[in-house]
Amino acid sequence: MSFRYSSLTRAGKIFYRRFFPVPKSPYTIGEVKDICAVNLVPPETLINFFKNCLKKLKEIKGEEVGDYFEFGVFNGSSIGSMYLARNELGLGSMRLFGFDAFQGLPPGSEKEDAGVYKTGFYTCSFEKMQQCLSRRNVNPDDITWIKGWYNETLTDDTIKKFSLKKIGVVFIDCDTYSSSKSVLDFLKPLITGPVIICFDDWKLYDLDVKGEGEYRSFNEFLENNSQFKAEEIKSYNRKSKSFLVTSIKV
Ligand SMILES: C[S@@+](CC[C@H](N)C(=O)[O-])C[C@H]1O[C@@H](n2cnc3c(N)ncnc32)[C@H](O)[C@@H]1O
Repeated sequence: MSFRYSSLTRAGKIFYRRFFPVPKSPYTIGEVKDICAVNLVPPETLINFFKNCLKKLKEIKGEEVGDYFEFGVFNGSSIGSMYLARNELGLGSMRLFGFDAFQGLPPGSEKEDAGVYKTGFYTCSFEKMQQCLSRRNVNPDDITWIKGWYNETLTDDTIKKFSLKKIGVVFIDCDTYSSSKSVLDFLKPLITGPVIICFDDWKLYDLDVKGEGEYRSFNEFLENNSQFKAEEIKSYNRKSKSFLVTSIKV
C-alpha cells in the first residue's frame, strides 16, 4: 500500500496551492535572538494533539501505550509538549526518547529534496535545548537523549542498550528524505503493535507533490514492507501528516 497521489490529485493540489500555499517553516537561518522562544508548532496545538494520540492508543492497547520516540529535537519544543501531555494524562511509565545530533541538518542536505534544505538549519546545542525545556517546566533529565548523527546512532546496539521494544508515538521531524528513511528503517523491527507515526514536514515546500522528503520515504517504506498497514488520522496542522500503523504479522 502507499499514500502516493494520483496524477489528478497531484494536479489538483498544485492548482489549489497557487492560491492557498502551504505555510513555510517559521524558522530562518538568520539570527534568532531567543532560540527558546521559537515554536515551530504552537505548544498548545501539539499538547492537545498528543493527548488525543495517547487516548486513542489507550483505547486500543490499554495503559501500556508504549514509548515516545522523537527524531529531530532542535530546541525541545515538540518533545516538551509530549512530556506535558504525558504528565497531564498520568502516563508516567511511558518513556520519552529524543534522537538528535544537535548540530542542525546534516552535511549534504542541500543535495536532496529539490535543494530546499541547507546544512545547519535548526542548529541548537544540547545545553541550550535543556535550558529551553527547563523554562517550560520540563525536566530534561526525565527524557533519554540519544545524541549523534542517525547513521551512527540508529543501530541494533541502541535498541539493546535502551531495551527499545514498545513504541506508542513516533514524531519524525528530521526533515530530509535520507534522514527520515534511516528512521523508518530503524523502526521496522520495533513496529509490532499499533503505533502512531507523525511526519511534521510532509507538505513543507510542496515536497509531497514533488515526490520527495517524508512523502517519499514513507511511501517507499510501505511499498517495500507489505507487512505494515497504515491508516491516516487527523494531524495537528496542514503541513504534517499522521498515521496509525500496524503490523499484520503479529
Ligand atoms: C526541524 S528540527 C526539529 C524541530 C523540533 N521537533 C521542534 O518541533 O521544535 C530538525 C532537527 O533534526 C535534527 N536532524 C536532522 N537530521 C539529522 C540526522 N541525520 N541525525 C541527527 N539529527 C538530525 C537536526 O539537528 C534538528 O535539530
